Amino acid sequence: MVKERKLNVKNIVKLVIIVVLLIVVIVSINIIRYKNSDKYKLKEIGYNKEQIEDILKLDKEYRKKILSMDYNEFLLDLMKEKYFLFENVDRYLEYHKKDENETAKNVVAITNVESDYDHYTNTKETDTSKDILMLVNKYNYLSKDFVPQNIVEVKNWYCYGNASLREDAYDAFIEMFNAAKKDDVTLIINSGYRDYQDQDDTYQEFYDIYGKNEVDKLAAKPGYSEHQTGLSMDITSYDETADTDFEDTEEFKWLQQNAYKYGFILRYPKGKEKITGYAYEAWHYRYVGLEAASKINELDITFDEYYEYFVK
Ligand code: DAL
Ligand code: ZN
Repeated sequence: MVKERKLNVKNIVKLVIIVVLLIVVIVSINIIRYKNSDKYKLKEIGYNKEQIEDILKLDKEYRKKILSMDYNEFLLDLMKEKYFLFENVDRYLEYHKKDENETAKNVVAITNVESDYDHYTNTKETDTSKDILMLVNKYNYLSKDFVPQNIVEVKNWYCYGNASLREDAYDAFIEMFNAAKKDDVTLIINSGYRDYQDQDDTYQEFYDIYGKNEVDKLAAKPGYSEHQTGLSMDITSYDETADTDFEDTEEFKWLQQNAYKYGFILRYPKGKEKITGYAYEAWHYRYVGLEAASKINELDITFDEYYEYFVK
């Protein structure tokens, strides 16, 4: 009897030891697992609970990038952006270092359209086969002898002085002009197609007035102006003498509401200067056709961005 009881106690002790050992092993495995988890590593880097939850929802390569760096809140903001491109992530961060107060949304847009590079560097010839959607900006140029087909004279009725445009842009303008007229709004073309030499003269004129430091915000160097496509026009109103006041006119307000319905877009909007590379121009409209104009209006993006995401 006594011997049997001793045996039982021995077995119980053995069992307890095994159970304790098992628990120790399981706990240790779990600790090791946790320490190797992204959750733990993110916590160690300094991210808080909500941020970690957000990061764990991201793609594996995004997570890997975050884990390879020190705590960086801006990187998380970037990754949440609609047009964030993983291949540009290092350029976004590089740009952010130079321009710390710029929003993540703008940094993504600026970089995606290559405006993080110095103006007039990394340039390439415009792909003119894109026709009404061709891109001309500080990184995409037209050759000196590029002349659009079907350039037509604008009737005096629609312009101050002389102007010409590509026929398709002109037809769309007349349609827009007639619609605006019904609302008692008169749209007048101030400048349309400008060939390479005209643009050279325009640039020189601006250079002489505004000087070396300002000129590039206001005028394009020859070859880099959209006016050479025949698809762009500067619009003014009957009462306006200076372009700078156009923003305050009924014509401008009408265009804001309606231009896209006729295939036109405001090419250099306010607040998007670092994306387009130009100061806000309330008067400069570009013909891109109905589909592109509607989409650009709906998404509230620049043509540079539209080209990058939907045309290129
Ligand atoms: N003012 C516009 C940017 C041009 O010169 O084409
Ligand atoms: Zn213009």
